Amino acid sequence: MKPVKVGLLGLGTVGTGVVRIVEGHQHDLMSQSGSPIEISKILVKDKSKARSIHVSEDKLTESAWDIIESPDVDVIVEVMGGIEQTKELMLAALDRGKHIVTANKDLMALHGPEILQKAAEKGCDVMYEASVAGGIPIIRTLIEGFSSDRITKIMGIVNGTTNYILTKMSQEGAAYDDVLKEAQQLGYAESDPTSDVEGFDAARKMTILATLGFHANIALSDVTAKGISKVSKEDIAYGKKLGYEVKLLGIAERQDEHISISVQPTMVKHSHPLAAVNGVFNAVYVYGEAVGETMFYGPGAGEMPTATSVVADLVAVVRNSNLGVNGRRGFVPYKEKKLKTDEQ
Ligand code: NAP
Ligand code: HSE
Repeated sequence: MKPVKVGLLGLGTVGTGVVRIVEGHQHDLMSQSGSPIEISKILVKDKSKARSIHVSEDKLTESAWDIIESPDVDVIVEVMGGIEQTKELMLAALDRGKHIVTANKDLMALHGPEILQKAAEKGCDVMYEASVAGGIPIIRTLIEGFSSDRITKIMGIVNGTTNYILTKMSQEGAAYDDVLKEAQQLGYAESDPTSDVEGFDAARKMTILATLGFHANIALSDVTAKGISKVSKEDIAYGKKLGYEVKLLGIAERQDEHISISVQPTMVKHSHPLAAVNGVFNAVYVYGEAVGETMFYGPGAGEMPTATSVVADLVAVVRNSNLGVNGRRGFVPYKEKKLKTDEQ
């Protein structure tokens, strides 16, 4: 059977996990998707860099266009990060009829509507499960699992790095800078961790979640964001004394046609399940008018959890190809409808 050929953009934390799963779970992936999946080319910045996995030299390239323009590549898996240059590459890939799987929340929060629109025109899939909450399948859940309901509230601990830092400061009295360094070494933090600690990463994720949950065209500028860089050990200890845990919480609420979305350090009562979400774990609380309260919990960052979501998307793309339904599964969530935000 002819294998589906994947061009992998990036072989860092997430890319390495993707290679491990595609190689290690080959038989399961084939039985789930209907075809063998082969990573045929891999983009890196520096081919001579030492890697924690072995990949054959001839698969590596330092030119993204080698992959985008290759007629042998069917699906692009984008785990390199970046925004404007990456957008150009993704649009060019779609122009050539290639499907896309991406873990890039910055790209999807800022340019998701344009990319998804182009994908719909070209009959291609664009899937981005790993862009929010690492290993938790929350995007599928919002699109498919709650398609029958009207969601009015989404609350999330959606940044693993900051939750790791706050947990270590709370439970061990650790110093902020030391724990941030640890989170970087563990592969949780963004290449520029300012995004994590200032709340921008969480704001981008809340933009995606609110867009999907509220079926509305929500912009990143609709989200107010404040990070944890000014939270001290003393603040955390004081909160604890009063029965609260400090968490970086994203809150998106909808009342009729009005929405508000914010990200900020928040005192969460010890009795609330979000207070017990520790370390790199994330949780997303979703309230639907019909279903009531639900909560989804799991690892929010790191090599294997994130790669699990990326490869699940890859399996879905290949399965869609075998069914002949790429770009037709109603996976274009961005609607024209604009709700009123606090800014308006
Ligand atoms: P990373 O460890 O920094 O890896 C980035 C990879 O992309 C590296 O292999 C790098 O090459 C390559 N690369 C970057 N820019 C390039 C360029 N201009 N040309 C060629 N190659 C380039 O990043 P990561 O943590 O895996 O994250 C990747 C993406 O996944 C980001 O969008 C991130 O936000 C997202 N994400 C990450 C996590 C996580 O837990 N880490 C979770 C969810 C989503 P070299 O290896 O040669 O340097
Ligand atoms: N830097 C991100 C985080 C990676 O810590 O949550 C996962 O999106």
